Amino acid sequence: MSDHDRELSRAFDGQAEQFERAPVQTDPAALGALVAFAALPPGARLLDAGCGPGIVAEAFLAGGHSVHGVDLSPEMVRRARQRCEGFGEHARFEVGSVLDLRAGPFEAAVSRLVVHHVEDPLAFVRAQVALVAPRGVVIVSDHTTDPEPERARWHHEIERARDRTHVRTLTAGELVDVLARAGLEELRLLEEPFELDFDEWFDRGTPTLPKDEVRRRVLAGRARGFEPVPRDDGGITLRCVRALVRGVRPAA
Ligand SMILES: C[S@@+](CC[C@H](N)C(=O)[O-])C[C@H]1O[C@@H](n2cnc3c(N)ncnc32)[C@H](O)[C@@H]1O
Repeated sequence: MSDHDRELSRAFDGQAEQFERAPVQTDPAALGALVAFAALPPGARLLDAGCGPGIVAEAFLAGGHSVHGVDLSPEMVRRARQRCEGFGEHARFEVGSVLDLRAGPFEAAVSRLVVHHVEDPLAFVRAQVALVAPRGVVIVSDHTTDPEPERARWHHEIERARDRTHVRTLTAGELVDVLARAGLEELRLLEEPFELDFDEWFDRGTPTLPKDEVRRRVLAGRARGFEPVPRDDGGITLRCVRALVRGVRPAA
């Protein structure tokens, strides 16, 4: 395991409880949209890459699929097992890196909110392509940044100040390119707006700067995918955009 992955594992062990409780992560409409977008064949065997506390896995299990989840964080995996225990043998979870996984072949692989934490998004997606069968589906979902470099830089510095495990948020176009470079075909992209509350978002991070300083920086700019809107109650709503990208592994 790399130093980066060891740090991720530690950080997500500490963040697991707050992550699992965050309303934005368990939003049933967003989870339903992800399952619908995946458009998997009935009863598919799915890899959940970076499964966290099993929220995404649970949505696919409820849709009649089987899930094999893998995550670097033992605490996340413990929570995933607990959350999904009612699905019996259809739900399996293990601690480890997607990059080292020996399992499959799967009919599909999904990752939500993982790409911005990995050092090499292409290697991360290629690992999933290698684990799905020919004509298997790979779905990546993550929040996005602005294609305009100055705005993306402003956004990036805020993300890094709020979460030391953050590596880089991609634009929707960059996410599509990663799937194309990984050899996937029939690519589809869906963008969805969503909102965060600044305080709730900041408080479950692993910050490198004090909250007041991050708040000041947030109010000093805007980006496509990260637009702060000050509220009358003194809070800040962040208007964000997530991308869902789907590709198909070519037939052998
Ligand atoms: C923000 S959480 C998202 C969890 C889950 N996908 C969800 O959306 O509810 C990111 C998770 O990815 C995991 N992760 C990051 N890189 C990974 C890797 N290479 N292999 C396995 N898990 C990884 C982290 O440990 C963390 O639990």
